[in-house]
Amino acid sequence: MINNLSLKNFRCFESLDISLCSGINFFYGKNGSGKTSILESIYLCSSGKSFKSSNIKSLIQIDKDSFLIKGYDNERGYTLQISKSNNVSLTIVANNSKVTSSKLIKEFPATAIHNNTFSFADASPDFRRKLLDRALFVSNDQFSETWFSFYRCLKQRNSILRGGSLKNIEPWDIKIADEGVKLNKYRADFFNLTLDELYNIIDKLDESKSTNYLRNIDIAFYSGWANDSTLSRIITNNRYQDLKRRTTTLGPHKADIKFLINDIDARQILSRGEQKLFSILWCCAQHEVLRKSFNIKASLIIDDIKSELDDSTFLVFLNLLKLLNNQVIFSCIDDHFSSKIELNFREFKKFHVEQLR
Ligand SMILES: Nc1ncnc2c1ncn2[C@@H]1O[C@H](COP(=O)(O)OP(=O)(O)OP(=O)(O)O)[C@@H](O)[C@H]1O
Ligand SMILES: [Mg+2]
Repeated sequence: MINNLSLKNFRCFESLDISLCSGINFFYGKNGSGKTSILESIYLCSSGKSFKSSNIKSLIQIDKDSFLIKGYDNERGYTLQISKSNNVSLTIVANNSKVTSSKLIKEFPATAIHNNTFSFADASPDFRRKLLDRALFVSNDQFSETWFSFYRCLKQRNSILRGGSLKNIEPWDIKIADEGVKLNKYRADFFNLTLDELYNIIDKLDESKSTNYLRNIDIAFYSGWANDSTLSRIITNNRYQDLKRRTTTLGPHKADIKFLINDIDARQILSRGEQKLFSILWCCAQHEVLRKSFNIKASLIIDDIKSELDDSTFLVFLNLLKLLNNQVIFSCIDDHFSSKIELNFREFKKFHVEQLR
């Protein structure tokens, strides 16, 4: 967990030093004050990526040559430095040695909910699959091995299919099915644990009854192929179809989480506020699984919490905060609610972002 954060020439901040608490960290300030930028820098420490721009260069302060983010974990004495100069790729140094961005998630596991992805149900299957896989990467080294192995085989098989012939496809079919079944089991198991936690959380939240709609959502894990057949049979039977399409059409690379209300896709029914609350709950449920089953504490980052949420849904969120044990970092334009928060929490830190610049 990041306790101390320092930014140099990052977005609107020429220089910023803050210490975060291990409980609730709340950033407020007017439009353009720098809330998203701070949350973005924290997420960068977990992923090496921005949740706002695909172009990392845009994070360097205008008219400056480079940015530097320093993170420090008090408990473990762990230091992290992420820097980016114009024309040089992102450099990550953890405890004085250079590491790749894929290592970050294990050191500082975090999930971010922000305006582009607040609707978990509305996002592409890819997004939901990645969210699940990210949690699995953190929790299980064997999962990473299986994941890389499966996707390597898939790449090979697809390259044979693109070549326009089925020659030499057999060994890849076998390997894809083997690795795919393992990958699928990891995902299905983690999904089931998450689902249990989700209902656990909903049960505890239910004083207000305003979350009743959540109980009507059927949530199901989709493997990426129909469950009435084995992956091995699907891959072999689909050879000619796959050859025509020049790609592997079914398999764990198509896995998804489906939400239905009365057999209708939930995103056609749920309001935006309902979808946002649902996404937050799902991420919290994943974090609870990480904490309870794997003893891993992941941070939850929520940008612009109040957008889409009305006062009563926001109260549900405040109730949720009471149930969580992990670090939460969130932002909001105004400080309207913090008096309500402070009364209830042992660890709560409030930052007025305008005053940090
Ligand atoms: N590379 C950059 N260099 C300098 N300033 C930047 C850079 N990138 C963004 N900014 C500016 O930083 C400021 C803070 O942006 P940020 O998105 O963090 O604000 P915010 O507090 O989240 O606002 P909102 O409430 O509108 O979401 C904005 O004025 C933005 O124009
Ligand atoms: Mg913002």
